[in-house]
Amino acid sequence: MTTFDDSSPLDVSPPAPEGSLVPTLGGHYYCAPDVFVGEQQTIFETMWMCAARTAELARPGAFRKVQVGRESVLVVRGRDGELRAFLNICRHRGAMLCTEDSGEEPRGLRCPYHAWTYRLDGKLFAAPNLGALTDETGGGIDRRRYGLIEVALREWLGYAWVCLADEPPSFEVDVIGSVTARLGDTEAIDRYRIDELALGKRVTYDVAANWKLIVENFMECYHCATIHPELTEVLPEFAGGFAAQYYVGHGAEFAEGAQGFTVDGSPGLTPIPGITPEQDRRYYAITVRPTVFINLVPDHVIIHRMYPMAADRTVVECDWLYMPDVVEHKRDVARSVELFHRVNQQDFEACERTQPAMASRAYRRGGVLVPSEHHIAEFHRWTLDRLAGTDRA
Ligand code: FES
Ligand code: FE
Repeated sequence: MTTFDDSSPLDVSPPAPEGSLVPTLGGHYYCAPDVFVGEQQTIFETMWMCAARTAELARPGAFRKVQVGRESVLVVRGRDGELRAFLNICRHRGAMLCTEDSGEEPRGLRCPYHAWTYRLDGKLFAAPNLGALTDETGGGIDRRRYGLIEVALREWLGYAWVCLADEPPSFEVDVIGSVTARLGDTEAIDRYRIDELALGKRVTYDVAANWKLIVENFMECYHCATIHPELTEVLPEFAGGFAAQYYVGHGAEFAEGAQGFTVDGSPGLTPIPGITPEQDRRYYAITVRPTVFINLVPDHVIIHRMYPMAADRTVVECDWLYMPDVVEHKRDVARSVELFHRVNQQDFEACERTQPAMASRAYRRGGVLVPSEHHIAEFHRWTLDRLAGTDRA
């Protein structure tokens, strides 16, 4: 556990609840490596994590490598069409099977060390000089026993979600429940047909900030008027500092003059058919704990996935998804992408500006939340609850 020298001459009296201001977590929660290890164990390695866009894994042998907590995980399309997830570790002597982030291995996964080879369903298929492999226990080498270690996988919204826990928590409660808590029901998100949309653009941001700073930033809108001029132009109510996502079913309305959710208010692309009149000309944001943000607008969906790499580093992959015709016909999505790309840059810059201060004595007891951020206090309580039981809380 990280401790601090309290003999500092600075006045750092704890920001106890005072009036309407609520204290945040102390600075070490954002920079101490042991807190991060605790989060890997109790959050990223036990919850459902969004791992890969399934349309990118269409052909047998297509794989994607992702970091989940401390583990490297492969999501692989089998010959039978099924998607499966495995630990990216050879059962012989533990070499990492795939070092590329993605690729295609239609003939199976071959370890580059001693050439043990695994079928796409994870079974051991060949091991040089060991004679015949068998499906029986008792004689020869049992190919199932030395197969790859499988990880739980669910498909939803066109993504493969994986969970490292031996007994995964309920996907319906933890993942789908986050969406219904915000939108009221699953029908509201089903209308966006996210699994049928096509990837128009992906940008990967390597952010020098703790993952919780990024979550907290996404959950608040107090900063919108200061750092998001383009966004508040399209969504004027954001300038008031209230995060529309925390009013159930309430989306932020587009400005009267905005024709679309674009950087200059110009028209958007093909609207997603089936969304309701209330969903039209509105922006909805949803946080799926721990590491996914979903943004809904009438003509596209933006999905953020965070990969926490260290206490002070988070890789964020952001997908812009459109109706398939937009991508097939190579329509120009630049003005559409540019709006949230700028928002991302502005947000991540703010998080990076904050991160160094997390180790400062000025922040050892944290800061404060303003009244509209009670939901961030709830996120802090949730984090502490998850960490309870480790010695990192
Ligand atoms: Fe993979 Fe030896 S470590 S075959
Ligand atoms: Fe922001």
